[in-house]
Amino acid sequence: MWLERALQCGEEIRDIIIGNSFIYLWHLLFWSFERQAGESQYWEAERGEMASASLVSSSPVLGKSEWVKGGQSIRLSSTAAIRCLPATITIRASYADELVKTAKTIASPGRGILAMDESNATCGKRLASIGLENTEANRQAYRTLLVSAPSLGQYISGAILFEETLYQSTVDGKKIVDILVEQGIVPGIKVDKGLVPLAGSNNESWCQGLDGLASRSAAYYQQGARFAKWRTVVSIPNGPSALAVKEAAWGLARYAAISQDNGLVPIVEPEILLDGEHGIDRTFEVAQKVWAEVFFYLAENNVLFEGILLKPSMVTPGAECSDRATPEQVASYTLKLLKTRIPPAVPGIMFLSGGQSEVEATLNLNAMNQAPNPWHVSFSYARALQNTCLKTWGGRPENVKAAQDALLLRAKANSLAQLGKYTGEGESEEAKKGMFVKGYVY
Ligand code: 13P
Repeated sequence: MWLERALQCGEEIRDIIIGNSFIYLWHLLFWSFERQAGESQYWEAERGEMASASLVSSSPVLGKSEWVKGGQSIRLSSTAAIRCLPATITIRASYADELVKTAKTIASPGRGILAMDESNATCGKRLASIGLENTEANRQAYRTLLVSAPSLGQYISGAILFEETLYQSTVDGKKIVDILVEQGIVPGIKVDKGLVPLAGSNNESWCQGLDGLASRSAAYYQQGARFAKWRTVVSIPNGPSALAVKEAAWGLARYAAISQDNGLVPIVEPEILLDGEHGIDRTFEVAQKVWAEVFFYLAENNVLFEGILLKPSMVTPGAECSDRATPEQVASYTLKLLKTRIPPAVPGIMFLSGGQSEVEATLNLNAMNQAPNPWHVSFSYARALQNTCLKTWGGRPENVKAAQDALLLRAKANSLAQLGKYTGEGESEEAKKGMFVKGYVY
């Protein structure tokens, strides 16, 4: 009896072993078939579309297939995973070369971005500060002054516009986009729809604008825009909560993928607000978390890293912290952050000024360019390029030339800082005034 039972058990065990081996063999065959199919697709892709192949190899999500295949612990080759994504790659590939070229042009030596994309509401605040009404004519006069500053393109490679400006002409009837192109400046467009409260968070916000983004982006491309900007924010005093960071990162990644599908280089901007009494170490810690999450989701959304630009905040102490940091400290913390979080495939890091004074923003940028970096490290300032210019203009036609000179002075100073050659000599008192506004809304 016991012998019979033992034999039966042995048979069962043998069946299990054979069965499992069969399943194992079948899996091996299946994987090797997938791998070959994937590889031949890869080589076809490489032959036909160099850029799409670079997308494939630069996209860490493909290597993550071990996590998504039903808990299998055997790692699929990254090329096999291509089979899951043909549609994405085909669409993206149509713009891949152009995206890479646009990003490289914007990230060219000695140049940076002029952010002049204030929403009508924010532009109204700027105009009010010099006693002007917030009318379309006044906004047009101010933006005409900015884009027609002689030889601006020597220092400025891209200009971010608000939608109104993208479709606007100058006071003399020339399209603003055409003037930029004549100056050698790439026109860009702010595509987000602003911040709203994030339900379920600690009084934090999220950025809207994904609905209809694909068709809007296609229309902006038709109108001459070649890059886009989406600014979301993270607040340190309010947490930041894991929910707010995840939402910010996911929104940026979806926006980036949609922009690339429509030929626009996305500027990825999770602004870590200056608000708060925290020290520089806390900013560093939050920034590390935020950028880790941003790159995780950019990869998950198959974003082509070679065709994006970043717009980070510099790592500084909170605006209300009594311990201030020198440009060298800011540079050291910020570069440490970038080196541990940003792949070298990304062509350009274009910092925002975030309420720093014009001179402070330039000094900090200069300190970051004292040694070669893997990416172009430059500026995408609004307040730190425009403040003195706006005040000098004061809404008076006779001051246009002086205001343009003030803009060119700042643009040149930041161009030198991009090259690591700014000395900070001869700056005006106005340029040294901080512009931090608590709870600032762009
Ligand atoms: P600031 O340089 O004034 O912070 O502006 C940043 C910005 O996002 C504008 O596009």
